[in-house]
Amino acid sequence: MTDIKEQISQKAQMIDAMIDTYLPAEEGPAASVMKAMNYSIHAGGKRLRPMLMLETYRMLAPGGDERIVHPFMAAIEMIHTYSLCHDDLPAMDNDDMRRGQKSTHAMFGEAMGILAGDGLLNYAFETAFRTFDIISDSGADCAGELEMSSKVAKALRILAGKAGIYGMIGGQVVDIESEKNPAGKVTMDTVRYIHENKTAAMIESSMMIGAILAGASDEEIGQIGDIAGDIGVAFQIRDDILDVEGTGDVIGKPVGSDERNGKATYVSLVGIDTAKTDVINITDRAVRKLSGMRGSDTESGHFLAGLIGGLAERDR
Ligand code: IPE
Ligand code: IPE
Ligand code: MG
Ligand code: MG
Ligand code: MG
Repeated sequence: MTDIKEQISQKAQMIDAMIDTYLPAEEGPAASVMKAMNYSIHAGGKRLRPMLMLETYRMLAPGGDERIVHPFMAAIEMIHTYSLCHDDLPAMDNDDMRRGQKSTHAMFGEAMGILAGDGLLNYAFETAFRTFDIISDSGADCAGELEMSSKVAKALRILAGKAGIYGMIGGQVVDIESEKNPAGKVTMDTVRYIHENKTAAMIESSMMIGAILAGASDEEIGQIGDIAGDIGVAFQIRDDILDVEGTGDVIGKPVGSDERNGKATYVSLVGIDTAKTDVINITDRAVRKLSGMRGSDTESGHFLAGLIGGLAERDR
């Protein structure tokens, strides 16, 4: 069996090619925004969220017709990329590098940094709605179409909600408002809220949508959401660690951004050593919970366990 890093890289390439088919053509009077949108997506990125979505689907619906997941995979990466375009703006983290190249506002100007983000967010939903075309073309009978449509509706609700004020945007709000607070003013509860929302909500969205489209039970969807919450929190703690001791060329974004902005991070609260131990413990807990689930013994179940485990030690 190929090693997990090679598998991840092959899967990311496949995801890139698939997402490409959903990107807008750069044409018409508003072509400049489409160029900026595609620039941000094409910069790369680990494609973690679509990967988690697809593998969760595969784990819970082995052999299922996975075309139904593709528009949602593209959509989650568009929403994630929009969040990065806006996160890098001068009014937010003011970062000039992202994914190893100039961030969107640094490349195209601030207005286009905002509009490309807006464009990606909206286009994500335009893309996710295309799932209904796949259902119409699937040749399913009326009852089958109805059943698939109701799963898609449920998935759309998660996609919208987890990205919004009770999810990612909410986390970004508290993150920004906690900046430059004197030490001791920002509590662990606040940092936990920030992590659970600005980062974990989108990981929950990815995996829960995979589970929903796979026809998982409500109980399973809840378990997947819980596991994804752990993965997301561990992922953000690791991100905070990399902001302190990562290598700029490897992470593809500026090191030391959090300190420059006076951010309340997990590392600033508990120190880097405790932060590292916590990432390992939270990750182990997620892998353990996953191993108790239906499908954990499938190829995708094993891949997911390996992927999640590796995130605890990622260097980018
Ligand atoms: C960066 O996410 C923002 C965070 C939530 C920490 P990723 O580390 O997944 O960024 P890309 O997609 O690989 O660029
Ligand atoms: C941002 O967190 C999470 C988002 C919702 C974009 P960070 O501000 O720490 O992400 P990076 O380090 O810039 O990728
Ligand atoms: Mg930020
Ligand atoms: Mg940032
Ligand atoms: Mg960061």
